[in-house]
Amino acid sequence: MKVLVATEKPFSTKAVEGIREIVESAGHQLVLLEKYSSADELKTVIADVDALIVRSDIVDKAVVDAAKNLKIIVRAGAGYDNIDLKATAERGIVVENTPGQNSNAVAELVIGMAIMAARNNFGGAAGFEISGKRIGLQAFGQVSRHVAALARGFGMQVSAIDPYCPKEMIEAAGVKVASSLKELYAGNDIVSIHIPATPETVGSIGKELISALPKGAILINTARKEVINEPELLEVLELRPDIKYFADVKPSNADVLAERFSGRVFFTPKKCGAQTAEANLNAGLAAARQITAFFADGTVRFKVN
Ligand code: 3PG
Repeated sequence: MKVLVATEKPFSTKAVEGIREIVESAGHQLVLLEKYSSADELKTVIADVDALIVRSDIVDKAVVDAAKNLKIIVRAGAGYDNIDLKATAERGIVVENTPGQNSNAVAELVIGMAIMAARNNFGGAAGFEISGKRIGLQAFGQVSRHVAALARGFGMQVSAIDPYCPKEMIEAAGVKVASSLKELYAGNDIVSIHIPATPETVGSIGKELISALPKGAILINTARKEVINEPELLEVLELRPDIKYFADVKPSNADVLAERFSGRVFFTPKKCGAQTAEANLNAGLAAARQITAFFADGTVRFKVN
């Protein structure tokens, strides 16, 4: 079988070597397409492959249509909003993700961003310590659980809300359950967003929630830009000069925000939460193993479509 690794944002060399080892020892062939600059390149290379490993690469209907032999896609990571699940399901193509494999990397970035914001971007102005402060986690999946553990290590008070996670599980992690989303935003010095982009969540974080933040609060988004109502974020940042917005998912209006709210907003040039040697290795190898297991005996792990 032909296994294509298509990564516009490549894995580390070590991760690619590991993926190759797993794929080739199982008798398959590895095809590598890195740093490609157009969907056409992907559509050409994907034409005769049987399996695909991607990161945030867009796998829309046109890409699926071009992949005549494709049987399985593994998104090496958590969020699979980049893959057209309907188009793949119609073709009987299995889609999986690799939950948890890059969570610690993203969680460390959240803490890094919290400290960077608290210390005024390390620019010399007096800041504050995150120890003793309150952090609220919107959703309590794999990344949030890592953030909670790290934040507790820093002596922070942690609370969370997640309609899909049993309260007992949140409490067992030493985390207080917020009674409502509004309360989560109103009651924390730092709020970190960890919801996926779905039809229900897109544009769901707007004026009502952001303006509920207490004085001097920091809003951190390492999830997806789409969950923010960007015009309303701009409006609140204008009205509330005390609030900061730090994101690993650059908003569509990043330039305007950066110009108007210099020092109070920060965006990574390219999504880097999962861009560590360890996360690349964890997620890349997990994806390769899931593919070889699928071809060995039909094993399907973490199917999302
Ligand atoms: C994920 O959903 O796993 C993260 O957003 C990481 O995405 P990336 O693999 O494109 O860095």
